[in-house]
Amino acid sequence: MEDKMESMKIPDHVALILDGNGRWAKKRGLPRTMGHKEGCVTVEKTVEIAARMGIKYLTVYGFSTENWKRSVEEVGALMQLFRYYMVRLLKIAKANNVRVKMIGERSRFDKDIVEGINRLERETKDNTGLTFIIAVNYGGRDEIVRAARRMADDLESGKLKKEEITEQSFASYLDTAGIPDPDLLIRTSGELRLSNYLLWQLAYTEIYVTDCLWPDFDKEELEKAIAAYNKRDRRFGGVKTT
Ligand code: IPE
Ligand code: IPE
Ligand code: MG
Repeated sequence: MEDKMESMKIPDHVALILDGNGRWAKKRGLPRTMGHKEGCVTVEKTVEIAARMGIKYLTVYGFSTENWKRSVEEVGALMQLFRYYMVRLLKIAKANNVRVKMIGERSRFDKDIVEGINRLERETKDNTGLTFIIAVNYGGRDEIVRAARRMADDLESGKLKKEEITEQSFASYLDTAGIPDPDLLIRTSGELRLSNYLLWQLAYTEIYVTDCLWPDFDKEELEKAIAAYNKRDRRFGGVKTT
């Protein structure tokens, strides 16, 4: 795979739905939270692998607006893991020249988590390598509604005119403003759905689904996804000319 990778086109932006932590734990007779813990280790490793491969943007779905429906215990455990890994991530980001960004509605988190997020963004903002984007309390529909509200404010105040509403200007109100759309979406654990992820941004993204459970995801799995991406013919609604 190593030799083959050299001739591969590396997608600029890879979006990940890291699914299957619970199933991974269940298979081993462990509590779901152990799957989440192992999943965090895989996230760390993936950031380093992606940075070395030359991927420019990596966006991972860490917690959806719908994940609050889970048990208090599971949500609580996820928040604790989040606290712990934010500190580790800061070190990893600094060591690998990674810029960290969070998308999603962060005000619902506890104050210390919000401060941790702000610190991660602030202290890595000048890094020039991989941009690692974490979607937390993120929902595609929620993001679009929040963008529409901010636009309405600007319309009301006269900062924006109705004629100025275009796909480009709309995108600049989304949490992902300034970030190019994903080229490749990888979903682990076999589910064939978007689960409210990046609904606007994935319009022309190539989709790759693997049965591999997230904690088992590794460099080889990422390379397989990139190899599949290299075989795709991206037409963007046009007609192939060659
Ligand atoms: C993904 O794993 C992590 C989060 C959604 C936080 P799941 O917890 O959804 O694992 P499964 O889908 O139940 O196996
Ligand atoms: C999507 O996974 C959300 C994240 C990976 C954070 P889910 O496990 O929540 O999605 P569904 O419920 O299978 O659609
Ligand atoms: Mg799941």
